[in-house]
Amino acid sequence: MSDKKTVFSGIQPTGDIHIGNYLGALRNWVNLQDSYDAIYCVVDLHAITVPFDPVALHRSRLNTAKLLLAVGVDPARSLLYFQSQVPQHAELSWMLSTITSLGALNRMTQFKEKANKAGENLGLFAYPVLMAADILVHKAHAVPVGDDQTQHLELARDLSERFNSRYGEEFPVPEQITPEMGARIMSLKNPTTKMSKSDEDPNTRVLLLDEPDTIRKRFKAAVTDSEREIRYDREEKPGISNLLDILALFTQRSIDDLVEEYHDTPYGHFKVTVGEAVVEGLSPIRSAFYGLDDEEVTRIMVKGALDARTRAEGEMASVRKKLGFDARLGQRA
Ligand code: AMP
Ligand code: TRP
Repeated sequence: MSDKKTVFSGIQPTGDIHIGNYLGALRNWVNLQDSYDAIYCVVDLHAITVPFDPVALHRSRLNTAKLLLAVGVDPARSLLYFQSQVPQHAELSWMLSTITSLGALNRMTQFKEKANKAGENLGLFAYPVLMAADILVHKAHAVPVGDDQTQHLELARDLSERFNSRYGEEFPVPEQITPEMGARIMSLKNPTTKMSKSDEDPNTRVLLLDEPDTIRKRFKAAVTDSEREIRYDREEKPGISNLLDILALFTQRSIDDLVEEYHDTPYGHFKVTVGEAVVEGLSPIRSAFYGLDDEEVTRIMVKGALDARTRAEGEMASVRKKLGFDARLGQRA
């Protein structure tokens, strides 16, 4: 066992991955691989909480895995796998559900949003409990996510503490890791709402695999404001501020530096600059993605699942014992 702390995160294989996912979460996944024992998961069990097509899901799971590899998740340094191939997640979720109050789940804003859009079901309601199980089954200390996951992560922390105090010390209380900048990338069409995979209008987002011309078009059409001044003000100028964030993150320059350079630049030109920076920043990801072989990726994911099972099973043996269940099969009293 290494003495590094464990980091865990997950991404749903629904819809396509956009620059909000990348800047808010995936870049951190990649950056944390050396300093932590890193475990990353394509959370396909979460994806079936909304209406879905099994054939499309099968395809998008693999594409999501490929994209994670393309952005730089390295199977030599991180454990990467599909959630559905490690049944211990669902087992721990059941156990945690028995110490979860309905009130806590009722307060989840994401449940309300998704239920309004897609219809409700018990799995969608219990979704945050499965997310807590994902994290706790690996005894993760830290969870890199965008800031829309804060409420879910609070539940995971509560469940960890509750389990520990009721049944004995078992789980760390996981910390959230969000980037200082980029934790909430906004929609390009409506910069007061976040960029989202499920927005009906594709013009609101830029996908990691969008063609360069599509990316340029999306930024040209990005909503700004009626002033003529480039400055950072999230309240008064959410569109321009979002573009400044994106440009800063793709060029590794500070906001102050960018504002100084572009202060008087016409919005149209500025949007072209942002679009070009994103085209350039995404180009290595696109090439890496199209260079990956499906069979090879499947092999990586199977290997990941087998390793993750071994790891999660070790943890579940301890959890079962704490609840009064026999820890191992094959033992005779
Ligand atoms: P999801 O799209 O819900 O599967 O989210 C995958 C990861 O991306 C999670 O860690 C989210 O918090 C993060 N994320 C999603 N949308 C955004 C956004 N607009 N800005 C920053 N991070 C985001
Ligand atoms: N709920 C997260 C999202 O929608 C995905 C997720 C599932 C997750 N399980 C997780 C994220 C565990 C971090 C840790 O983006």
